[in-house]
Amino acid sequence: MPDAQTVTEVKHWTDRLFSFRVTRPQTLRFRSGEFVMIGLLDDRGKPLLRAYSIASPAWDEELEFYSIKVPDGPLTSRLQHIEVGDEIILRPKPVGTLVIDALLPGKRVWFLATGTGIAPFASLMREPETYEKFEEVIMMHTCRTVEELEYGRKLVEDLVNDPLIGEMVEGKLKYYPTTTREEFHHMGRITDNLSSGKVFEDLGIAPMDAEDDRAMVCGSLAFNKDVMAVLESFGLREGANSEPREYVVEKAFVGDGI
Ligand code: FAD
Ligand code: A2P
Repeated sequence: MPDAQTVTEVKHWTDRLFSFRVTRPQTLRFRSGEFVMIGLLDDRGKPLLRAYSIASPAWDEELEFYSIKVPDGPLTSRLQHIEVGDEIILRPKPVGTLVIDALLPGKRVWFLATGTGIAPFASLMREPETYEKFEEVIMMHTCRTVEELEYGRKLVEDLVNDPLIGEMVEGKLKYYPTTTREEFHHMGRITDNLSSGKVFEDLGIAPMDAEDDRAMVCGSLAFNKDVMAVLESFGLREGANSEPREYVVEKAFVGDGI
């Protein structure tokens, strides 16, 4: 199979979410935050590929992915059954807008994600360049339930306790997870917590302003659209690789969600 990589680890977080690690092609270079096409061969032996954010940082020897399980999804109905030693297809052509280079320099960077949209930020939170470029990194992640936050919570916990990266992250990374449909210590949609100022109060930080704040957004189409309006209300403007500005956006998936 061309572009085959071997699965080295699989973790199931909920009945709808799992993460896995695969070997990294020696020639693959990417910028933390980018995505690639991965997949499996279909019944007729043809590659069935989908876009996936690389959840591991650029320095990692392996590649990590964080995935939804769509019950009747052409790819994930099968991908969810992969085991250590299995092979997946990985096209080594990384692309994407959620890269530090697409932002103008600033003091704080906000990572705004719902659901599996945390994947590119799982990469960027573990990327030293993020902490070299910004004084503060604020990770807002919102899911319906507490168990859906667990992948991100564990990642942040491991990062803070890491003997090498922990020191770099200490005092700089602020993690603000919320739920919307189950009781939790912090609740509410990202859009509402930004608009009302609740997140600034809870974290004891200054409100967002276009001079110092930068943002990266990854969620459903509806979420992205609504967050963009909130960011624009604070004076931030959308940028791109070719034209860095105050914020960048990428879809976590195409469609209405499940
Ligand atoms: P599809 O036919 O592709 O999707 C069926 C339906 O499931 C979609 O119409 C949509 O309503 C819903 N859906 C698909 N993906 C999601 C999701 N992630 N969360 C909630 N609902 C969803 N998926 C990941 O799980 N992890 C990633 O890191 C990731 N990165 C992506 C990056 C980009 C730039 C894009 C465009 C998509 C990304 N996706 C990611 C979505 C992914 O490409 C597939 O859609 C997903 O793996 C489901 O594939 P499928 O063939 O099983 O079902
Ligand atoms: P809510 O429960 O209020 O819909 P989903 O599972 O539907 O993809 O949603 C993931 C999370 O994103 C949920 O907590 C959901 O909140 C939130 N969300 C969905 N749509 C939006 C939106 N347009 N703006 C802000 N948050 C959203």
